[in-house]
Amino acid sequence: MAATSTNQIKDQSLSLTKRLFPWTLYALIPIALLHFYLNPLSFPPSPESELPHSFTSHFSPPSEDEKAHDTPCDYFNGKWVSDKRGPLYNGTTCGTIKENQNCIKHGKLDMGYLYWRWKPNSECQLPRFDPHAFLNVVSNKHLAFVGDSMARNQLESLLCMLATASSSTLLFSNDSNKFRRWHFSSHNATVSVYWSPFLVKGVEKSSSGPDHNELYLDHVDEKWGGDMGQMDLIVLSIGHWFLHPAIYYEDGSVLGCHYCPGLNHSAIGFYGVLRKALRTTLNGIIDRRGGKGNDGVGVIVTTFSPAHFEGEWDKAGACPKTRPYRNEEKKLEGMDAEMREIEMEEVEAAKVKAKGIGGFRLEALDVTRLALLRPDGHPGPYMYPFPFANGVQEHMQNDCVHWCLPGPIDTWNEIFLEILKKWEEQHKSEE
Ligand SMILES: *[C@@H]1O[C@H](CO)[C@@H](O)[C@H](O)[C@H]1NC(C)=O
Ligand SMILES: *[C@@H]1O[C@H](CO)[C@@H](O)[C@H](O)[C@H]1NC(C)=O
Ligand SMILES: *[C@@H]1O[C@H](CO)[C@@H](O)[C@H](O)[C@H]1NC(C)=O
Ligand SMILES: *[C@@H]1O[C@H](CO)[C@@H](O)[C@H](O)[C@H]1NC(C)=O
Repeated sequence: MAATSTNQIKDQSLSLTKRLFPWTLYALIPIALLHFYLNPLSFPPSPESELPHSFTSHFSPPSEDEKAHDTPCDYFNGKWVSDKRGPLYNGTTCGTIKENQNCIKHGKLDMGYLYWRWKPNSECQLPRFDPHAFLNVVSNKHLAFVGDSMARNQLESLLCMLATASSSTLLFSNDSNKFRRWHFSSHNATVSVYWSPFLVKGVEKSSSGPDHNELYLDHVDEKWGGDMGQMDLIVLSIGHWFLHPAIYYEDGSVLGCHYCPGLNHSAIGFYGVLRKALRTTLNGIIDRRGGKGNDGVGVIVTTFSPAHFEGEWDKAGACPKTRPYRNEEKKLEGMDAEMREIEMEEVEAAKVKAKGIGGFRLEALDVTRLALLRPDGHPGPYMYPFPFANGVQEHMQNDCVHWCLPGPIDTWNEIFLEILKKWEEQHKSEE
């Protein structure tokens, strides 16, 4: 990787990149890189300044009293420590890994990213993922992952780890694997995934449709909402799709838009919109599934997972790190911090709303910081097989958003299991 040739390559390919970008992007990585293209240097954009005031102030935090009743383990502050044991699975042992995330199979050379374990600061231990324990807590239940490709990434990690203990049958799949459902007959456990990158009703931009997203902020997306009655556990994971250009509707009229030059709508950014989408979703679940006489539902909100682009998304070395950051090396700030904060606030607000209603459990899976510290765990150029087989190419796509499987995202599911175990204990003590 001689510096001179890389520079030449940069100059020559700039205009080509600009021309090719939208098509290669939409065709190959239909998520999350657009923000980088729109705003590669002055990232993050500052939608907060465009935000109407009324968006930000509905939430009232829980009182100290409410907090004190519930002091669970803090799994979300800690550090990554090296761990010789390595992952529970590899890229060949389960059939569900999306090709672009199968880094081992694609020849990712540095395997160091596989040998780290998250160690919480608190007294609480985070045990290694126990697939039998997980299957036990979800037995006779339907667990649904709902959201964008990060939801799918987390689901596939879980399925690979469960596959080490029990086999599953694919019951259903449509729309290029955007909707799938598996059954573990050993435990009568159903696990499914629903593609819904906004959670609320929306139309995604596409080459045949609009060149921006359209979101209807006061309607739950019925592609998953329609099945809500069958779900016992719901994992929500969204975020990156909110960065794309979009028009927002509410109460039947246009509320505003994001990155929409040429359209006669007011630019309102996406922070307030993410907040509204989550609120509509959580309220929708409380309304439809909360209350007595119901078996109840448990909801997890997986918080925003930061991207780690250091260079240009289509050049070699876009996310070249091979070790986790130490805590003092990396601050959670800017857009990453803001997205997480909105999600945490909406989770707390929904807990307050559901108080006394019963039948509804909710917890944030606050992985933003764990994720921020793992620049080494992305596919990068290994989203494709053996990307360096013919040397460094001038145009090399990189995925610095999703996680290699196995990889850091396996830890999200370790913490998820601890939350489920806690809920089960609480449930037993209530009986
Ligand atoms: C993956 O795991 C399987 C089963 O444990 C093992 O047989 C195989 O050699 C492993 N493959 C790699 C590339 O490590
Ligand atoms: C199997 O699990 C489903 C939930 O996915 C539940 O409705 C059903 O009652 C379970 N069957 C048995 C025999 O427990
Ligand atoms: C795929 O399945 C989901 C969930 O059942 C459904 O809402 C959606 O309309 C289906 N999509 C297609 C293209 O068939
Ligand atoms: C833009 O919107 C404003 C307010 O809705 C309207 O008065 C104006 O005519 C619109 N301009 C164009 C060019 O459509």
